[in-house]
Amino acid sequence: TKPLTAPDIRAMKGRQRIVVLTAHDAPTTRLAEEGGADVVLVGDSLAMVVLGHEDTLSITMEEMLHHVKAVTRTAARALVVADMPFGSYQESPVQAVRNAVRFVSEGGARAVKIEGARHMEAVRAIIDAGVPVMGHVGLTPQRLAEIGSFTVQGKSVPAAAAILSEAKALAKAGCFSVVLECLPSPLAARVTRAVSAPTIGIGAGPDCDGQVLVSYDVLGLQERLAPRFVKRYASLAREAAAALAAYSGEVRAGTFPAPEHGYGLPGGLSEDDLD
Ligand code: KIV
Ligand code: NA
Repeated sequence: TKPLTAPDIRAMKGRQRIVVLTAHDAPTTRLAEEGGADVVLVGDSLAMVVLGHEDTLSITMEEMLHHVKAVTRTAARALVVADMPFGSYQESPVQAVRNAVRFVSEGGARAVKIEGARHMEAVRAIIDAGVPVMGHVGLTPQRLAEIGSFTVQGKSVPAAAAILSEAKALAKAGCFSVVLECLPSPLAARVTRAVSAPTIGIGAGPDCDGQVLVSYDVLGLQERLAPRFVKRYASLAREAAAALAAYSGEVRAGTFPAPEHGYGLPGGLSEDDLD
């Protein structure tokens, strides 16, 4: 299978809805691809979903790279997009290019995502360097300290207009797609009609060109409180907890391991022959 490219994803607008899943490791990437993902995003949600942080602000380039490598070693068909973490692009376009290039040359990713509507020079510089960029507007969790809480964005006319113009600017700069996070559905529909790049919704209603969710959420692999836009297609956390409890019970009862889980000695040797 030939891997999908950023131009392939861009060309899907108006033809085919785009399936995006966030994954952070090899097994989840394998499952995401088997499930049909066109794009695997190595999101900075890594901080919260896997590394136990309260928000996405403290994740580093090195931590992101470690996981981007696991995903790119595993993905065969999906476009792998690496999420630029907080602090990796805000200083200057030079810094942004250096870190985007690391995701490609060291990490093996073929595109980056950036919450960069307020850093258009950085976005343009990364694209000029030859790294395709996925934009991201609406709720941008890296601005948590500024916005106060994870909540729906674009609820006033001026706020909606600002989001629309940010998305237009990102598309105009050459972004191959734009994530719309936590927007009123009619605003996401308006943005989707207004921009040439495909929109990838999360909490943005049914009218985007594609959709993204975090694999752990889709699988129900954690029971923590989820926003209304998450749909759990399985309850694997419950199944996993039951499996691990059964294991613990059998270890304590001495019923696992059973004889069939062990190895014999060769040639009729027995325990008595070992002294
Ligand atoms: O970090 C992430 O996983 C994301 C997606 C949910 C858009 O940014
Ligand atoms: Na993210």
